[in-house]
Amino acid sequence: MKLLVCGGAGFIGSSFVRIRIADHGDDVVVLDKLTYAGRRENLEGLGVPLVEGGIEDPVRVAEALDLGGAEAIVNFAAETHVDRSIAEPDAFVRTHALGTHVLLEAAREHGLRMLQVSTDEVYGSIEDGSFTEESPLRPSSPYSATKAGADLLVASYTHTFGLEALICRGSNNYGPRQYPEKLIPLMILNALHGDPLPVYGDGLQVRNWLFVEDFARAIGHVLAHGTPGEAYNVGGPDECPNLEVVRRIVELTGAPESLIQYVPDRPGHDRRYSLGSEKVRALGWAPRVRFDEGLERTVRWYRDNEAWWAPIRSGDYRAYYERQYGRSLGRR
Ligand SMILES: NC(=O)c1ccc[n+]([C@@H]2O[C@H](COP(=O)([O-])OP(=O)(O)OC[C@H]3O[C@@H](n4cnc5c(N)ncnc54)[C@H](O)[C@@H]3O)[C@@H](O)[C@H]2O)c1
Repeated sequence: MKLLVCGGAGFIGSSFVRIRIADHGDDVVVLDKLTYAGRRENLEGLGVPLVEGGIEDPVRVAEALDLGGAEAIVNFAAETHVDRSIAEPDAFVRTHALGTHVLLEAAREHGLRMLQVSTDEVYGSIEDGSFTEESPLRPSSPYSATKAGADLLVASYTHTFGLEALICRGSNNYGPRQYPEKLIPLMILNALHGDPLPVYGDGLQVRNWLFVEDFARAIGHVLAHGTPGEAYNVGGPDECPNLEVVRRIVELTGAPESLIQYVPDRPGHDRRYSLGSEKVRALGWAPRVRFDEGLERTVRWYRDNEAWWAPIRSGDYRAYYERQYGRSLGRR
């Protein structure tokens, strides 16, 4: 299949591209703005053309579509960090609202199928049980609110224009090549460096962990077998509170537990996310990687790939980290 993958230089997008080429022999073109989170290194060795540009730019989108003759668009392009959406929401509105609209128009013009990658955060927090695709959208941060807005726009294009658009809502992903502002890579790299491990609030926020390759496979599966106009939840096989995640990382890295430090909670921090995935399982997808195995693989990957993270830990990320946690990182 010929695919235009937007945001394909990021964490999940690059995993998707790798799997589509290796397992399906797809022809892929990537369109990516290369923000701080997008990296050419993530596509190294894959031989994929990369068009540098924003999805909100119709000219770049048209160029990328012409280059590969795409049959479908898969949209991963997003600003993805909740903390940054609280500090600077503008880019979230631009990319999620305007950008998604530009892609929908392009898909409509060319008669293409489009898959929008979304998140469990659009449903908000849930104390017990799990969200289904019928649950109301109750986003609580500028990140999740703009993602929810994009989902509604995507659904409206099927309803109004008959566009073959699908939505995949994933739970918290983890795995190789995730930017270290997110919980798991942040804690792994700090633990490997003997830096403090900053835990928000009481650390009892529960997340439904999904190994990145499992999400990437689910997205391909929904693209091929899903019904246009429908959303599909893709939840991980295990739930775990953040503090327990950090404790397991401490064990796997051999760092002392005394590195754990509690810091003031994020404003409006959701307590628990949980997704029911019956609908996507009925299409024939199932997760392959349990949390214990995936976390071990992830720790090993960061241990073995200093060349990937060293430039990040010595760049702008240090200033971001200082602003966010009110303390500095140790050695680079
Ligand atoms: N990480 C998770 O836990 C998770 C879970 C569920 C869903 N998602 C969704 O999956 C998608 C990918 O997330 P990720 O974790 O790989 O994010 P990421 O931050 O690693 O990657 C995002 C990519 O999008 C690119 N990008 C940003 N703005 C762009 C724009 N305007 N135009 C073109 N490219 C742009 C960035 O350069 C980067 O390559 C997002 O839509 C996110 O909402 C993420």
